Amino acid sequence: MKLDPDSQILRALINQPDTYVNGQDIAEKLGMSRVGVWKRLQKLSESGLQLEAVRNRGYRISGEPGQPLQSLLNAWLDREHVQMPLHWHNSIGSTNTEAQRLLAEGHATPFAVASGEQTQGRGRMGRRWHSPAGGNLYVSFAFNPSLPPKRMQTITLFFGLRICIFLNQRYGLPVRIKWPNDLLLNGKKICGMLTEARVDADAIRDLIFGMGININCNLSNWPDEVRAMATSLSHELGGLLPFHRITAELTGLIEESYQHFLLNDPAKILQEWPQYDYLHGQILNFEQNGRKYTGTSKGIDLEGRLRIQDNEGKIQILNAGEVSIGSSNVSR
Ligand code: BTN
Repeated sequence: MKLDPDSQILRALINQPDTYVNGQDIAEKLGMSRVGVWKRLQKLSESGLQLEAVRNRGYRISGEPGQPLQSLLNAWLDREHVQMPLHWHNSIGSTNTEAQRLLAEGHATPFAVASGEQTQGRGRMGRRWHSPAGGNLYVSFAFNPSLPPKRMQTITLFFGLRICIFLNQRYGLPVRIKWPNDLLLNGKKICGMLTEARVDADAIRDLIFGMGININCNLSNWPDEVRAMATSLSHELGGLLPFHRITAELTGLIEESYQHFLLNDPAKILQEWPQYDYLHGQILNFEQNGRKYTGTSKGIDLEGRLRIQDNEGKIQILNAGEVSIGSSNVSR
């Protein structure tokens, strides 16, 4: 990706986060004038970027802007070696819908569409996805996989698993994955995933993986019913996270995970599932063929279906649908 001049300057600053970077050095490296660098940084700080400038030492980014900045995002995408283009919007109806539109227009894949707010965010089963502005990330990734449709469920689970492992390892957040499409932190939802595909004869023609992740939002403005089940990373951590950096890291992660998914068989890609499986060993209530059951969750099979051992010891395979946790007296 070719970086615009603002992003190139920011790229130089994020490369050395703990030191002041000399304006003259940046100017020489980028073939600009020193004043040109200063003017651009001045403009960026007017757009909300927190910048420290110290005479004879240089510049340093001291904090993230409140509203995401495309140029800072581009700088981080470059630093994370992300190849796919990311189309950023401050507000949009739905990033999944926009990705569908771009695919229909013939845009080459892979690409990402991201936004800081959605006015018509969509969840699973036709539900609405609460998508306020103020620190969350709503993002959709478009691919042309040419895979058998039965691998569709596993791609969502695999991406979810990789995001979960990333948040654990990189940010020390004990996130777990809850079949079929949620990521939870301390028992509350921090991320929902929605995969939509167009299937031709026997193959997936194109696929959109959308996720809404609550990063830095303030829960106090949320409707009570959402707050009862959901939380944000910053709320649980007790501090803000670097939004631009995480957005770029997640984009790089999905880009890399997609290649990994194409090259590896299902047994290999879901090897780490049990370690992060929120439902493992839990007593679940579920419905199968119109009957209500209670059983113990036993992980997933190679097609990403949930395995539940019912009260008679039989393994029931759940393709999709809802499960609720906790024993109930409606068991068969
Ligand atoms: C769910 O848990 O029901 C899935 C929620 C998926 C929400 C994401 S946000 C980005 C993308 N665009 C949408 O309209 N939905 C998905």
